[in-house]
Amino acid sequence: MLTLNTADLKPAELQNYLQYAIAPRPICFASTVDKAGNVNLSPYSFFNLFSSNPPICVFSPARRVRDNTTKHTLENILEVPECVINIVNYDMVQQTSLASTEYPKGVNEFVKAGFTELKSELVRPPRVAEAPVQLECIVNQVIPLGDGPGAGNLVLAEVKLIHIQEEILDDQGKIDQAKIDLVARLGGDWYCRVQEENLFRVAKPIAQLGMGMDALPPAIRNSNILTANNIAALANEENMPSSEAIEAIQLVPEVKEVLDATLGDSQTRSLQLEQLAKQYLDQGDVITAWKILLI
Ligand SMILES: Cc1cc2nc3c(=O)[nH]c(=O)nc-3n(C[C@H](O)[C@H](O)[C@H](O)COP(=O)(O)O)c2cc1C
Repeated sequence: MLTLNTADLKPAELQNYLQYAIAPRPICFASTVDKAGNVNLSPYSFFNLFSSNPPICVFSPARRVRDNTTKHTLENILEVPECVINIVNYDMVQQTSLASTEYPKGVNEFVKAGFTELKSELVRPPRVAEAPVQLECIVNQVIPLGDGPGAGNLVLAEVKLIHIQEEILDDQGKIDQAKIDLVARLGGDWYCRVQEENLFRVAKPIAQLGMGMDALPPAIRNSNILTANNIAALANEENMPSSEAIEAIQLVPEVKEVLDATLGDSQTRSLQLEQLAKQYLDQGDVITAWKILLI
């Protein structure tokens, strides 16, 4: 394993390792104004949601590594503590990158990158009309993390109004995770797109108290066929199935087929049952998998 002491790395090297590893990062496309009302629009991937009550997002315009100067976004926020955090989808990504060009102060990146200004209802900076979600925010606090090149400045932005394009809503009026078509920043020039085929669910372990890996029978915990994800899904269940349920599963045709074909060969039988259970686990049917594994 490569082990690096951050004190030995140059800022650019440090940034490289951390940005490739701490990824994907959501993108805050922040619009701000200076006290004369000049508009600025820039993307920030040092960004996330840190509290939902109160609703607080944090993003970080860092000091430029090149010359240790501060970003216009930060300077504007210190003059007018308001911003709109526009959420970036795939259709906007090239223009968003264009808006990150280091134009001189006072240049409006809405114009440079070809985005449409939409008047905000509560704050002075305009919204990006093309963005699927636009968050009008009041900046509560700015926390500088240092004064050297690359030092971040945490902008604590309290969300006051949430605007959502109706096309990305499902029939319950909630955001559809597939329809919003988000993009995120990774290391270097890499981005990723959140599309339906990349989405999967992991059951939250809050409705029940999962038994835990330590409670699993050793044959399951040490299986060569089940993956760590498969085994953890089994450990997320509160109880093992009843003996009646285990008996009943033996009558299911595909299970019965394995049992009949492996009469007197216990090794092949447990191997094939594990393979069958794995198919159920991979489809998200943990209960059936448990029953098969306990035959
Ligand atoms: C997708 C993306 C994410 C970025 N994230 C950050 C970031 O988190 N912090 C930062 O200081 N610069 C970040 N940048 C670079 C800034 O957007 C860039 O320095 C910009 O010119 C700053 O504009 P301003 O000086 O007008 O505020 C990012 C650029 C891109 C394209």
